[in-house]
This record gives sequence, C-alpha cells and structure tokens, in this order.
Amino acid sequence: MLDRFRLRLTLGYVGILAVILLLFFFATVVLFRDQTLDRQDAVLVHEAEQIARRRADGVGRDETMDESDAYGYVVLGGDGGEVERDASAASLGLPAVEAAAAAVRRGETVVRTEDGPEGGVRVASVPALRAGGEGEITQVATPLELALEPVSRLALVLVPIGLGALALAAGGGLFLSRRAIRPVQAAFERQRAFVADASHELKTPLALIKVDAEVLLRNPAVPDGGEILRHQVAEIDRMNGLLSDLLLLARLDGGKLAVACEPFDLAPVLVGTVDRFRRRASAAGVELCVRAPASLAARGDAERTCQIVSALLDNALRFTPAGGRVTVTGFRRKGRVEASVTDTGPGVDPRHLPRVFDRFFRAGTERAAGSGAGGGAGLGLAIARDLSRRQAGELTIGSGDGGGTEARLVLPGGD
Ligand SMILES: Nc1ncnc2c1ncn2[C@@H]1O[C@H](COP(=O)(O)OP(=O)(O)O)[C@@H](O)[C@H]1O
Ligand SMILES: [Mg+2]
Repeated sequence: MLDRFRLRLTLGYVGILAVILLLFFFATVVLFRDQTLDRQDAVLVHEAEQIARRRADGVGRDETMDESDAYGYVVLGGDGGEVERDASAASLGLPAVEAAAAAVRRGETVVRTEDGPEGGVRVASVPALRAGGEGEITQVATPLELALEPVSRLALVLVPIGLGALALAAGGGLFLSRRAIRPVQAAFERQRAFVADASHELKTPLALIKVDAEVLLRNPAVPDGGEILRHQVAEIDRMNGLLSDLLLLARLDGGKLAVACEPFDLAPVLVGTVDRFRRRASAAGVELCVRAPASLAARGDAERTCQIVSALLDNALRFTPAGGRVTVTGFRRKGRVEASVTDTGPGVDPRHLPRVFDRFFRAGTERAAGSGAGGGAGLGLAIARDLSRRQAGELTIGSGDGGGTEARLVLPGGD
C-alpha cells in the first residue's frame, strides 16, 4: 500500500515537473524563434539595400549572390516587370508579387513569410528610388527552414536535456520518497503489530470465559458453579484492565491525556501507594517498606505518579518470592527527585533489559503461563514510561544491589 502511495507521489511530482519543463521549453523556443527571425530579417533588408545602392551607383550584377541557394533576389521596375534576378530567385518563388505591391503601397520595407515552391520563404521587399525618379522594388528571400535552423538545433538540445531531467527527477523522487516513508512504514508496522498483539491478548480471556459459560450451559447445576463464575469474573476484570490500558495508550499516543506539570509532594504519594499494596504483600509473605523524607517537592502529576509507582510495585510483588523484600525509596538528587522500587526477586535478564518497555513484552515463561498466572499483558512498563516522560521525567529499569530488580523514576524538582 505504501509502495503504491510512493509511486503515485513520484508520478505526481514528475508530472508537475514535466509541465514546468514543457512551459519553459515553449517559452524558450518561441522567444528564440522571434529573435532569430528578427536577425534574419535585418540581414535580408541589408542585402536588399546593398543591391539597391549598387544599382543606384550603376554598378553591374554581383555574381557572388548566385553562388549560394541560401539567398535569392529579384529587382522589379516601376511597372512591376523584372529588371534583374539571380539564379536562386525562381526556386524561392520570386518575385512575390503581393509583397511587392504592399511595399509600393506603403512606400516602406515589408518583410513577411511567403509560400515558395519548396516551402515557406522569408521575403524582404525594399522600395528604392532610382536616379530619374523611377521607383524599384528589391526583393531578397531565404528559405524559412534555413533561417530557423538555429531554432531546430536548440530544440534538439533541449528535448534530451528535458527527458534526462525527468528521468533524474523520477529516480531521485523514488529514492527520496523511500527514505521519507521509512519512518511512516515503521510506525505502520508497529501499529499493525500492536493491533495483532492486543487482539491476541483479548482473545485469550474471552476464550476462557466462553469455555466456562459452555460448562455452565451444559449443566447449570454443576457442583463448582460458583468457582466457575468467580473465574469468569476474574477474566472479565482482566479484560477490563487490558482495555483500560489500551485506551490509556491510545490517549497517550494521541496527546489527548491531560498530565499536570505542577508542584506536588512526592513523599505522601509514595507512602500512600505503598499502603495500598500492604495487604497483598503480607498475603504473599513479602516484606514491604518505604523510606522517604517527610516531604519531597517534585513537579508533575501526583495521580499519574501514583499510577507509575503502582505499576512498579505490582511487578515487584509479582516477581518476588515469599520471604523476599520490596523497598520503595524517595530522595532528592541534583535538583531532581527520585523514587526507586527495589525487590529481591530474580531480576530481569540483561538480554531482556532493552525490551522491557516495549508494548506487550513479557520476558520468559509468563506469556506461556497465560492469564492464570496473574501477570499483565506487558503494557505496564510501557505506559509507566510514557507517563513519566509526559511529566518531563524518566523511568529506567536495572539490577538492584542485591541481585533483584531496581526501577527508578526521576522527576523534575519542585523548587
Ligand atoms: N520487578 C521485576 N522483576 C523481574 N522482571 C520484571 C520486573 N518488572 C518487570 N519485569 C519484566 O518486564 C516485563 C514487562 O513488565 P510490564 O510492562 O510491567 O508487563 P507485565 O507486568 O504485564 O508483565 C515483565 O513481563 C517481566 O518480564
Ligand atoms: Mg506490570
């Protein structure tokens, strides 16, 4: 699809260039033709005047003009009869009677194009007075084709140059459009993969819900009906969460999510978020503690920051086995404030570190474990990083000192 678009773009571009070149070509040729004819006319008139002057001086015929077919001349007397002509005159259709009559009528030089026996002929008719008061018309002519030869030569040079320019523009256009479209193609690919992943993630719980429903349908009085319904509700919750995440990502991508950038205190946000996870931590047998000063002036969005820390705590608690510890620490550094969430879990495989923020990425066996394992869809960190960046902050994941994972959120300082 993008290739067709590229081709259309290039064709349109080459088409516009072709029209511009054609206009340029015609303007150049027409201007050059006019100029060439003007110059040629001046030569014809000059020749005619020289012949008239020679005759006025009573000098005999100049044989040199007979040598070339390029020019021919004829001198007409006052009665319209031929007084003198050269060898080429006949082949050029001289005398041009009407042109001569026009020159006599106006009493001035007339230059125009006539139909000769072998095609168009440019004829200059110059009236001159001979001694004794008898008027004569000197006509000098040259074939139009010969006169316009420089114009044909110019056209012959311009046509291949124009075609070459068009070919170059087409090649260059294809090359440049390929480069320009590469990021679009990558974004398109990402979007396609995203839709495929999202559909897959939604299909899994839907299939489980359907299986449960079919069991209940076959036997509504099945002994563990309550358990099946609870399972269905859990899957629906999971789908709901996934759809919320997808919606949030769409709004983040579209720049439609309002994220505040105002002063707030990070310390109570950390303490409050940790408190919400206490019950889950103690149920999992994991020690959960928070270390932060009484107040940590930050700049950003308190609610979104709570969302980020929740995603980090959710991961930490999910990956930390019973008997382990999860620690949330808040501190100030170099004018910025930081919150780190460290755990004593297995840590993230260094090979997976560059990809943990990719959408739908889950390392190792979790995807295979499916929804039953209670894991997310691999959107948590992607959303958390987007939210951090929208607050002019940054989120990184690395190895903790004790071998577990350390997630670190940095936000602008509030003072
Ligand atoms: N604290 C952690 N310990 C070990 N692995 C982690 C931790 N946090 C994140 N990960 C890895 O990063 C992946 C992506 O995390 P996340 O985006 O939150 O997705 P999800 O929580 O849905 O699996 C996880 O599947 C896991 O492989
Ligand atoms: Mg997660």
